[in-house]
Amino acid sequence: MTSSYGPWGIVLGGSDGVGVAFAHGMAARGINVVLVARRVPVLEQAAALIRLKYGVEVRTVSLDLSTPDALAELERRTADLEIGLLVYNAGADTSSVAFLDRDIDGHLDLVRRNCSGPLEAAHRFGAPMVARGRGSVVLVTSGAAWAGGATLATYGATKAFDLILAEALWAEWRDSGVDVLGLVLGRTDTPSHRRQAEAKGDAYDTAGLADPYRVAEEALDHLADGPTWISGSPDPTAGSPFAAMKRRDAVLAMSRGAATAAGKKADGRH
Ligand SMILES: NC(=O)c1ccc[n+]([C@@H]2O[C@H](COP(=O)([O-])OP(=O)(O)OC[C@H]3O[C@@H](n4cnc5c(N)ncnc54)[C@H](OP(=O)(O)O)[C@@H]3O)[C@@H](O)[C@H]2O)c1
Repeated sequence: MTSSYGPWGIVLGGSDGVGVAFAHGMAARGINVVLVARRVPVLEQAAALIRLKYGVEVRTVSLDLSTPDALAELERRTADLEIGLLVYNAGADTSSVAFLDRDIDGHLDLVRRNCSGPLEAAHRFGAPMVARGRGSVVLVTSGAAWAGGATLATYGATKAFDLILAEALWAEWRDSGVDVLGLVLGRTDTPSHRRQAEAKGDAYDTAGLADPYRVAEEALDHLADGPTWISGSPDPTAGSPFAAMKRRDAVLAMSRGAATAAGKKADGRH
């Protein structure tokens, strides 16, 4: 993998859940990793374990990806490294509420972290990859991207942005030696997902949730199988499972799915 992509990888949102699973998978393949997240103790603990287990170099960068200059700062703090593999993982919405029940700053934070962040990361780190003629970019998205749904307005819209961005970059870079993968996840057992359930007062049941390490391994084995990989699907390169439905039916189905997960009515009310 280092000869295909380069000596360093970077995981934005790399200290727990799917992100740290990606970092373990990359380190196991001999790649040094930069881990980016906000909480320093969680970052340092993740980094120490990866160094100990795989003997690779690990750099930690504590940043809030919902702030406007985060990506410029990250580029400065990794300017001495050849980053060949980028995974933009941070993206979960920990409070799934009706659109007007979240203040405008909360929506804008989500848009900065989930849209501006992946776009800037792909531009700042993708340009040197294309110039070198090797590299890989993974944008982690969600089944929430397939259709709009009540309580998922901004989250689903940002994840649709990530899906379309990944597909477009795949089309532009496919002959340049840079692989791009839009990774569509279903419900996965991560600390964020657990916190979300606990915040709503729901019991956390891992039955039916994907394992983050399996998700990351599957993606790392299929970096070259873009543009889109639907994790855990029997047909991972197929189209949207909603594609055959009328849009109205797809939106109502998505709303029912979100409501079932949150124990709410389909319009977002409890
Ligand atoms: N888990 C699921 O069920 C599920 C389902 C569908 C799609 N997905 C997608 O999978 C990806 C990973 O989800 P996840 O459940 O593992 O949770 P996540 O909260 O998206 O990712 C956790 C990681 O991101 C970091 N992070 C979160 N917000 C950040 C910010 N503003 N700035 C910097 N780092 C940040 C966390 O560390 P800090 O908190 O310390 O910053 C941690 O390292 C997301 O893109 C999500 O949309 C997840």
